[in-house]
Amino acid sequence: MRILYHANITKPEPWLAGFRAALPGADIAVWEPGAPPADYAVVWAPPQQLIDEQPGLKAIFNTGAGVDALMPLRIPPNTLLVRLDDAGMSVQMAEYVCHAVIRHVRELDLYEADMRQGNWTFRKPRDRRDFPCGVMGLGVLGTRVARALQHFEFPVLGWSRTPRQVEGVRCLSGAGGFDEFLAATRVLVCLLPLTPDTRDLLDRRTLGKLMKGGYLVNVARGGQVVDQDLLALLDEGHLAGATLDVFRDEPLPPEHPFWRHPKLTLTPHTSARTLRDETIAQIAGKIRALERGEPVAGVVDRERGY
Ligand SMILES: NC(=O)c1ccc[n+]([C@@H]2O[C@H](COP(=O)([O-])OP(=O)(O)OC[C@H]3O[C@@H](n4cnc5c(N)ncnc54)[C@H](OP(=O)(O)O)[C@@H]3O)[C@@H](O)[C@H]2O)c1
Repeated sequence: MRILYHANITKPEPWLAGFRAALPGADIAVWEPGAPPADYAVVWAPPQQLIDEQPGLKAIFNTGAGVDALMPLRIPPNTLLVRLDDAGMSVQMAEYVCHAVIRHVRELDLYEADMRQGNWTFRKPRDRRDFPCGVMGLGVLGTRVARALQHFEFPVLGWSRTPRQVEGVRCLSGAGGFDEFLAATRVLVCLLPLTPDTRDLLDRRTLGKLMKGGYLVNVARGGQVVDQDLLALLDEGHLAGATLDVFRDEPLPPEHPFWRHPKLTLTPHTSARTLRDETIAQIAGKIRALERGEPVAGVVDRERGY
């Protein structure tokens, strides 16, 4: 069995060593133009050339949960496209989102600023019931985040494309449930895949429907937020702030107004990192399952785009 590895943002050697240990006997190499035919490819943002030169791939494994970078590529219909299915990301996402929500609700950012000024001052405690959290996307990551927020006794809502049930979460779905979801949400957490349906979804109209004093945590993809609309709603005071981990252009360009906006907290696409050991174990397990002729989880539905 031959496996190709392609990722231009990580050093390949530890990945190759990990796959060799997990799949003894497999021939694993970094992809180069003209590479001999392989059975599987493990990729992040591969070039079209890799796909074109490897028409016999049984599966392409994406080393992330989001496959939006793969969707514009022409991939043969017989090649399975498989995304990461948690692989250690959901717990990271839960801690990141809970931290962002709690920091905002408990005004820890303001306390930090006060303490730096030498001000020993108290703020009036805020009632968590006044901060219903709405999680967009009730998949692998969104469900884990919704459960984690419940743990801190925030009222939690969820929104998905098809109806979902998560115990204790007020679940709404589809276009018909969207406005009701937004209107009942004060802290909006975006965990949707980036697809034609979700691109530019968070604009003036939709963000404007959040409860007054709303807060956005975007940990999905930058393309879901209309930057200028978010800035306008922050400046008009309808939104109290946002924590943004993802951006339309990454790295965020130096001249972008997000960098200097006082109501924004930014991180460099780090809310849920791909963990090498967990990822190799998951992909190796799926390759073994496919070789035995068994189905695997995380196969991308190319029609819906995730
Ligand atoms: N910032 C980071 O570091 C980071 C790390 C990992 C992932 N991510 C992002 O997180 C996203 C979610 O990952 P996941 O593993 O949780 O994906 P997932 O398991 O595929 O879940 C996606 C959820 O979004 C819902 N959805 C999709 N299109 C929708 C639409 N048009 N309207 C309403 N709901 C829609 C799905 O609805 P159904 O339940 O009806 O299918 C599902 O509940 C990834 O696609 C990626 O972009 C970011």
